[in-house]
Amino acid sequence: MNKLENQSLKSLNTFGFDVNAAQIFEVQEVSDMHKLYSMGLFNNPIRVISGGSNLLLTQDIEIPVILIRNKGIIITQETNDHVFLKVGAGENWHDFVIHCVERNWGGIENLSLIPGCVGACPIQNIGAYGTEVKDTITSVEVFNRATNEFETFQNHECKFEYRDSIFKSQRKDEYIITDVEFKLHKNWTPKTSYGDINQQLAKQGISSPTIKDVSDAVTEIRKSKLPDPVEIGNSGSFFKNPIISKTLADKLLQEYPALKLFPINEQEVKVAAAWLIDSLGWKGHTENDVGVHEKQALVLINKGNGSGKDILHLARKIQDSVNVKFGIKLDFEVNIW
Ligand code: EPU
Repeated sequence: MNKLENQSLKSLNTFGFDVNAAQIFEVQEVSDMHKLYSMGLFNNPIRVISGGSNLLLTQDIEIPVILIRNKGIIITQETNDHVFLKVGAGENWHDFVIHCVERNWGGIENLSLIPGCVGACPIQNIGAYGTEVKDTITSVEVFNRATNEFETFQNHECKFEYRDSIFKSQRKDEYIITDVEFKLHKNWTPKTSYGDINQQLAKQGISSPTIKDVSDAVTEIRKSKLPDPVEIGNSGSFFKNPIISKTLADKLLQEYPALKLFPINEQEVKVAAAWLIDSLGWKGHTENDVGVHEKQALVLINKGNGSGKDILHLARKIQDSVNVKFGIKLDFEVNIW
């Protein structure tokens, strides 16, 4: 375990905001958790950072920051059809996806190029292109801050929902995720029906795509639509797609026939927040050197000299304008610190 003092978090958040952390403890092995417990670190509030890709830093952090860096991809079981893997929370998510794609293990290829680390993927049940990570997670290993013990949450105990889990809602901040276990498929038919995947494959003349073809297609689509955090600071979708009643959706559709909706069940639909924001003219908007990405209205960007407070100010203005126009409350997908 490493301990650092008075460090900038600039390279540890994908928005690239330069805030100071008074103390950082870098966890390299899960047993470091017991050391932190004996030091009394868990008796008071702490912050946990893994990839820093779903995080808006608005001020310096005086309380201890724990950086999750434990690694390892281990096969725990293998059958003719499946491979079971235990993966350290500090592994880079995209590197893990590529590790699996190269071995032709299917199930997470549609989640290629999502920034962040493996330990964060269950917290908000990351999803893209018709796939959610909950469909491949068998269990999540956590450290219980109060008892100094490791525990296992089976998939159904994680209470996964759209961009949500028990670790983000009911039991927020009680546990630190140390490892995630996945079940991937050896004989897998990739899912290509969502969004532009089929179109992208057709462009390349591919009719029977492999797992790698789909991973490459998703990577290309993401690169064309979403800014690379290395070049332009951002945290992917800043807002969640709101879920509204079908009654409200039908009413809105009469006034706004172009509204983009995704069916969920008989009573509810998910609304494309990007469409709501875009229709209000926010796309490409800039103020105080922060703004709304010109190709995807859900993505807020740091143009270089902005601050987390400026992003928060802009995000609230967008929230208000959507609420006034459509009567829909947009929730933030990112964590605000
Ligand atoms: N749209 C607009 N304006 C825009 C962008 C999109 O009107 O600026 C419309 C599109 O025409 C489309 C609809 O909104 O009909 C949905 O757009 P898109 O398919 O790009 O997906 P999204 O709902 O905006 C979600 C995820 C993304 C994920 C994509 C692809 C959320 C909050 N976001 O975006 O996830 O990559 O689907 O599956 O669910 C992330 O969570 O950080 C993220 C990038």
